[in-house]
Amino acid sequence: MDEQTALKKKAGEFAADLIESGMRIGLGTGSTAIWAVRRIGERIKSGELTDIVAIPTSIRTQEEAESLGIPLGSFDEIDELDVTIDGADEVDGRLNVIKGGGGALLREKIVAQMTKRLVIIVDPSKQVSLLGQTWAVPIEVVHFGWESQKRFLEAEGATVEVRQDEEGNPYLTDGGNLILDANFGRIYNILALETKLQNRVGIVESGLFFEMVDDLIIASPDGIQHVQGRIA
Ligand code: A5P
Repeated sequence: MDEQTALKKKAGEFAADLIESGMRIGLGTGSTAIWAVRRIGERIKSGELTDIVAIPTSIRTQEEAESLGIPLGSFDEIDELDVTIDGADEVDGRLNVIKGGGGALLREKIVAQMTKRLVIIVDPSKQVSLLGQTWAVPIEVVHFGWESQKRFLEAEGATVEVRQDEEGNPYLTDGGNLILDANFGRIYNILALETKLQNRVGIVESGLFFEMVDDLIIASPDGIQHVQGRIA
């Protein structure tokens, strides 16, 4: 296992140990969150965790959770989650994040929105002083009129790429939508940008998570840093 993978594992397992019996939990997506999912699966299997019901943020995570025997719930029986553990592509000093590198931003944001405590787990490569520094903002759009959304984003100053899958075809999200990766460079006013994106018809969701994160766990070679508390 390379060093970065080992750090992702450390962060994931630390976060998984915050879960307590009886909790309703959200399971994130990606190469960091997978370690939390696996650890939760182990804790359930050993009997250390009981009465857990989880909602996964992607089909990939759902399949992993099912294979580990993690009980899954549905939205008609769960209206609030105690804790969700998820990764991020970038995190700033105020715990705002960019997500969606793995394409699951819409489900991740739906699950985050119904969560009391959103725990983000990263290795130090994800830390930035301003969002947009190293990562484009993934923006999920419906097929109809997507070119118009691309022009809209370009007019807002972004360089835009249509995300492709491994075969070079347009990448489709779990919801069957397209992703436009919009590189705005450093984002000085996240709320202003997010508001514009939310107001644009045809944009389903953006990967900007503004003031949604409660806990940040950073695993570095020096150990774990656990930052708690959202800055309002
Ligand atoms: C999935 O769509 C994403 O939001 C991931 O949580 C994010 O891209 C971080 O992924 P890694 O942990 O694989 O870097």
